[in-house]
Amino acid sequence: MKNQNMKICMFAILTFVLVWFLQHEGVNATRGMRQRGGSRLLKETFYPRYGETFPSALPYRKTSTIFNVLSFGAKGDGTTDDTKAFEAAWLAACKLEASTMVVPKGSVFLIKPISFSGPNCESNIVFQLDGTIIAPKRSGSWESGLLQWLEFTKLNGITIRGTGVIDGQGSGWWSESGTKPTALRFYGSSDVTVTGITIQNSQQTHLKFDNCQSVQVFEVTVSSPGDSPNTDGIHLQNSQDVTIHSTKLACGDDCVSIQTGCSGVNIQNVDCGPGHGISIGSLGKDNTRACVSNITVRDTKIHDTMTGVRIKTWQGGSGSVQGVTFSNIQVSKVETPIIIDQYYCDGGKCQNKSSSVALSEISYENIRGTYTRNPVRLACSESTPCTDVNLDTIQLQPLQQNEEIGKPFCSNAYGELKTSTTPPIDCLMAAKPSEKQSRNNYDLCQN
Ligand SMILES: *[C@@H]1O[C@H](CO)[C@@H](O)[C@H](O)[C@H]1NC(C)=O
Ligand SMILES: *[C@@H]1O[C@H](CO)[C@@H](O)[C@H](O)[C@H]1NC(C)=O
Repeated sequence: MKNQNMKICMFAILTFVLVWFLQHEGVNATRGMRQRGGSRLLKETFYPRYGETFPSALPYRKTSTIFNVLSFGAKGDGTTDDTKAFEAAWLAACKLEASTMVVPKGSVFLIKPISFSGPNCESNIVFQLDGTIIAPKRSGSWESGLLQWLEFTKLNGITIRGTGVIDGQGSGWWSESGTKPTALRFYGSSDVTVTGITIQNSQQTHLKFDNCQSVQVFEVTVSSPGDSPNTDGIHLQNSQDVTIHSTKLACGDDCVSIQTGCSGVNIQNVDCGPGHGISIGSLGKDNTRACVSNITVRDTKIHDTMTGVRIKTWQGGSGSVQGVTFSNIQVSKVETPIIIDQYYCDGGKCQNKSSSVALSEISYENIRGTYTRNPVRLACSESTPCTDVNLDTIQLQPLQQNEEIGKPFCSNAYGELKTSTTPPIDCLMAAKPSEKQSRNNYDLCQN
């Protein structure tokens, strides 16, 4: 009798588990395919050769395909031009949803400027980068005026992941003026993930997102010398819903540069330095309109940089920057940790104009550490004063007392000191300025 009950009980449990599996796993597997990195476990476990598909061991799980560049004729010896093999592997991978193009560990691939172009590709492609990709050194193999070296465009769901390295071998470019390529650029894509990889010694910007939606960057390393000119770490333009976290950025220009058209950008847990700090702008060059909103930078370390958290705009622009929070930022050996510069002028002559990009709702909370020049500089435009600038728990010490050390400076900056600060800041104005001119700027950014 007891035995019988046990059997019935076991049967009931098994049935329940089976039904649950069919309902949940079936749904998840299909959904997983649609999300980026679907059936991740399988992909990481097997690396079949080109053309081989996964065994369809599990019910409801679509097969996925792996395309290894070595199977397409890539040599990976660091000197043979492997561009054609990469193009062929991409062409094959791009035809299948959630496929994986593999750049394997232990090989070095020399790749000329290439576009992994997507308008006719399936979605959710993974570019598994565990090897090293190097660019040709500065020479005739580069067309002049080229804007990027590795480009991914018009993709819906693209992930670059792995432990590999992208090396721009940029030193030959650094002493030159004129247009230099970005190492890795994403254009017009959504659901973009970059994780695990290292991007180093770019010719110019290391990683750029332009016209992208839903971008995730994490556990990425950017590395180039502090004196390599214009080598921004990550450059964002016309992109929305961007998260950058747990990432180390060392370069010769802005660690992160946020340009016009960006909103909903969250930066967290970043280590920045050397470089020029984390910047919004420059905006409004050549009397252009700029719109930037909802930017958060938090829990971040900035060290050995020119500026810490910066907003820079040119005289003569229009539009606005609205809703920016810099919170819990640890600075060390930073020339000017907190800076708004509405008179930005990158060399050359600049005139003061009767308009500029307007700034409002800018918060600085818990910014601590050491500086070597000015602790705080809020140089707002006379035509469009900064409004709603809030400072809360600012504790900045000069690294050494010398004649270079300046005092906090503000002009045309309105807002509130939520706490007392070190050093004391007495130049922020409490009263609101007339908003007539500014209002117009904010209206320009509504649509
Ligand atoms: C900015 O954030 C606010 C509040 O979270 C939200 O209401 C608004 O839609 C956001 N705007 C943009 C452009 O992301
Ligand atoms: C523009 O105005 C600022 C602030 O008043 C001033 O410091 C700067 O010298 C002016 N620049 C020019 C070129 O007139």
